[in-house]
Amino acid sequence: MRSVGIGMLGSGFIGEFHTLGLRHVPDTRVVANWGAGADRREAFATRFGSRALDSIDAVCADPAVDLVVVSLPNHLHLEAVQSAAAHGKAVACTKPLGRNAREAAAMLRTVEEAGVFHAYLENVVFNAEMIRMREIVESGAIGRLTTFRAREGHSGPHAAHFWDAELAGGGALLDMASHGAEAARSMFGKDVAVRDVFAWGDTLVHGERTSLEDNAVMIVRFEDGRAATMDVSWSSKGGLESRFEAYGEGGRIVQDIISSPLRAFIERPAGYLGEKVDADTGWVYPVPNETYAHGHDAMMADVVGAFRDGRPPQETFLDGLIVNTIIDAAYRSMKSGRWEAVERPVATPVAVGGSTR
Ligand SMILES: NC(=O)c1ccc[n+]([C@@H]2O[C@H](COP(=O)([O-])OP(=O)(O)OC[C@H]3O[C@@H](n4cnc5c(N)ncnc54)[C@H](O)[C@@H]3O)[C@@H](O)[C@H]2O)c1
Repeated sequence: MRSVGIGMLGSGFIGEFHTLGLRHVPDTRVVANWGAGADRREAFATRFGSRALDSIDAVCADPAVDLVVVSLPNHLHLEAVQSAAAHGKAVACTKPLGRNAREAAAMLRTVEEAGVFHAYLENVVFNAEMIRMREIVESGAIGRLTTFRAREGHSGPHAAHFWDAELAGGGALLDMASHGAEAARSMFGKDVAVRDVFAWGDTLVHGERTSLEDNAVMIVRFEDGRAATMDVSWSSKGGLESRFEAYGEGGRIVQDIISSPLRAFIERPAGYLGEKVDADTGWVYPVPNETYAHGHDAMMADVVGAFRDGRPPQETFLDGLIVNTIIDAAYRSMKSGRWEAVERPVATPVAVGGSTR
C-alpha cells in the first residue's frame, strides 16, 4: 500500500481533530504542518511527529506531502487551496468551504483546472448514527422522507476569527447550519436540488462582541416541495448540541450525536471533556473517542482511501459549493424577509483521481 504524507495547515481545534481522525488510517501520517505562532507549530510537530514549516506554501511545496488538509480559519481556505493546487497536490478542506459561494466556486474551479483530487471535510455525514439513519431512510422503513430537522448549538466559538464578520464571512448560520444543510442533502439524496430558502437570524446575545448573527433558523425547500429546517445557536448553554431528526410518512428517526453513554459527578476538573462543554465540575458528560463520535475517523478514512484508489470521495468541493449557495440564499432571505432562490452552481464535472504528482 502506498503511504500517504499529509500536510496539515492549521494546528488549532479542528487541525487536532483531523490529525487524530487520521490515526486509524493505515500508512498515513502528518509529515509537515503550519499554523500561526512558531511555538504552537512546534508543539504540534513534536506531539504528532511532524515537521513545523513556516508558511502555507512551504507545506504545499514539501515533496513528502501528498495530500494537504486545510484546517485554517475561513478567510484562509481559498489561499490554501490555491497553493495546494499550484503545487499539484491533492487537497481536503474543512467546512464551510468558502466564506460565500463566490469563494467556494473559485476553489472548485482552481482544483478542477489543476486536475487535483479534492475533498470537502464535512464530518457530520460520517458519524455512525447519521450513516445508520441514512441506511434506514434508504431501506424505505419510514416510507417517503418528508422533512428533516437539525438543531446545532453551543455557547459561542472559542477563537476570535469566528466572531469577525470579515474573516468568518458569516455567523452561527454559516458556522453551524453548513453541517445541517449537507446532512439534509445526504438524507434527501444529492440528486434532489434545493429550490429556495427562507431564513431568520439575529444577534440576540453577543452584540458587544460581534455584528454577526448568534442565532438563526433556516428552512431549505427542495425542488419537489419537501423541506428541511436548521435551527442554530451560538448562545446555547450546557455544551454542544448536535441533533438530527428524519420524518417519513411511515416513521421517524432521531439522533443526538452528543449524547454520551458516560456521566460523572466531579468536584475537581479532569481536563478536556469534550467540544464546547460549559462545565468542568458537577455533573459532566465526557465524550469517549470524540473523533469517532463526531465522524472524523470515518471521514478521514474515506478521504485517504479515495485518494489512494483514485476515486472521488463521498464529499467533494462541489458539495461544499452547494452548501455555500444555500447559506448565501439564507443571508439574502434574512435581509429581504422573503423566500430566496438558490442559485445552481455551474455543473462542471468534478475532477477526480489521485494527485498529479
Ligand atoms: N468540522 C467541524 O466540526 C469544525 C469544528 C471547528 C472548526 N471547524 C472549521 O475549522 C476551521 C478552523 O477552525 P478552528 O476551530 O480549528 O480554529 P482555531 O482558532 O482553533 O485554529 C486555527 C488554526 O489556524 C492557524 N491560523 C493561521 N492564521 C491564522 C489567523 N490569521 N487567525 C487565526 N488563526 C490562524 C492557527 O494558528 C491555528 O493553528 C474553520 O474553518 C472552522 O469552520 C470545523
